[in-house]
Parts: sequence; structure tokens; C-alpha cells
Amino acid sequence: MIEIIEGFEINKNDKSTRIVDIDISDEILKKLIFPFNKFDITALEYKPFTRFTIAKSLDDLSNNKLSKLLNKIICDRNTGCFTIKPKNLISKIDNDFLVKLSTAVAYLIGVPNHDSMAGKYYARFHVKHKDKSDSYLRKAYTNMDLHTDGTYVKEKTDWLLMSKLEEKNVKGGETAMLHLDDWEHCDELFNDPIGKENFIWGSPKSKNIDYKVEHPVFSSDKDGKAQISYIDQFPEPKNMDQGNFLQRLSDSLEKSKNKIIIELPVGNIIVANNYFWLHGRRPFHENKDLSRELLRIRGSFFKL
Ligand SMILES: [Fe+2]
Repeated sequence: MIEIIEGFEINKNDKSTRIVDIDISDEILKKLIFPFNKFDITALEYKPFTRFTIAKSLDDLSNNKLSKLLNKIICDRNTGCFTIKPKNLISKIDNDFLVKLSTAVAYLIGVPNHDSMAGKYYARFHVKHKDKSDSYLRKAYTNMDLHTDGTYVKEKTDWLLMSKLEEKNVKGGETAMLHLDDWEHCDELFNDPIGKENFIWGSPKSKNIDYKVEHPVFSSDKDGKAQISYIDQFPEPKNMDQGNFLQRLSDSLEKSKNKIIIELPVGNIIVANNYFWLHGRRPFHENKDLSRELLRIRGSFFKL
């Protein structure tokens, strides 16, 4: 059942009933401008408590119903994903506003991890025509295969948030999403003992992580259901069995017919449970003036 919160329009996503779309009305947005203006971005970066303050401002405008709804969606195995965005991009909504809104949404769910790529609790980055980086994140014309985040860090990555801040001359580059329970070969791969062996996970230089971690691809949740921690670029298979398992996994995920392809308009924030949702990106159509700016936050749930 979809809840009713005054000032928020809540609907099932038209591509998947597992994703809930939340539109924030102009009225709420206008009421956010004053509390958001209380802190500039530097204050948010330097003083973590200010992020809780703006999150509370947002939640208060829903009579504290929004935080309950977001947590319910993100923890429910049947959903686990929502989008939230300004219904209209009214004139006061600029990049700073969207950084603050993303921060507020994140802090209603949990505490962000330090993002080593950016050296802050969030990272902003561009995808452009030309790229010299060492990961698929900024390679516009290559498919970014389905994966989860945080595979190569020690911190727990329970959820991830992605916001679209800006877009110019973009065709393609849609977001691809796959829920494990919709994936045709989940049982087969989950029940393969190789997937429960420890794998070594490293990362390229740009990620600024100077250690490697070890963990399996699959684990079980409290009900015995599959959870995945996987990305194609970073595991370092140590034998033929592990190498072949990863290839089978990669092929099977990419071939899935149940992938959801969504276009996220500027201002849209998507948040997904990182244990049973995989995400990726389709290639962009070539354009030398192509530019997209994204923000990401990854973190853990609040500890009670
Ligand atoms: Fe990712």
C-alpha cells in the first residue's frame, strides 16, 4: 500500500513495482529553502551534526512520516529502492540545494561512509566525452555492468544514493537496476559453493584505497535469502574456479531480461539497498559536448 504524506506525491515506479517514486511538492520545497540556507556546503562538510539538522528540517515538514517511509522501503526485501525528487525544478533549486537535499535524505536513513575518492562524506563527479580515469565510472561509451558498491572497502555499505545534478547533450547513459529476486539465475549462482568462498578485492589508484579486502560474493540474510557484494572490475580471482565463476556471474547478470532501465531526470535522487539491488549504466551516445554531473553517497544504517 502506498502511504499518504501531505506535500509528497508517492507512487509506484512505472518500470518496477519494487521502486517507489516520491515527488516533493513546491510548497515543501519553498519551506526547505530557509533551513537549507542556514548552512553552506562547507559547513555541511566540516560539521557532521549540521547534516542531521537539515535532515530533521526535511522530516519535520512531513510530521516525521518521511523518515519512517524511507526506512521501511529501503529495508523491505520486496522493495528496497526509492527515487525522490522535486516535483518541479523551481528557481531556487540549484546544485547546492540538491547537495543539501541529497544529504538530508541520506541522513534520514543512516550515516555515510567517508568517500575516499573525494575525501568527503559524498562525491561529485562528471562523466564527459573524454576520460583518462582508471575505472568504468567515468567511461561514457562503455556499459557499466551491474554491480553493488563498496565491494573493496572495509566499511559496511548498506545503501547507496545517487543524484543527478546536471546534464547536457546526453542521450543514452540510462540507469540499469536489477533486484536479486527478479534475476533468473539467482538460485543457481547463489547455491554454487564457489560464490561463498572468500575472494580478494582490490581497487585502482583513483579510489585511494591502499588495502585489499576479502569476502565472498554471496551471503545470506537473516531469512536465508541471497545477498550479493560484487563488481566486475575489482575481484582478483586466485584460481580457475573463481575466475570461471565470476565470468558466469557477469554473463548471467548482463543477460538478464529483468533489468530495469530508468532515465533519471536532473534533480532526481535514487536510493537502493546495496545487498539485493544491483545497479549499472548503459553507454552514452557519442557527443563531444556530453556532460553529466552526479553525486553519490554510500553508507550504513543507523545502529540502534
Ligand atoms: Fe556503483
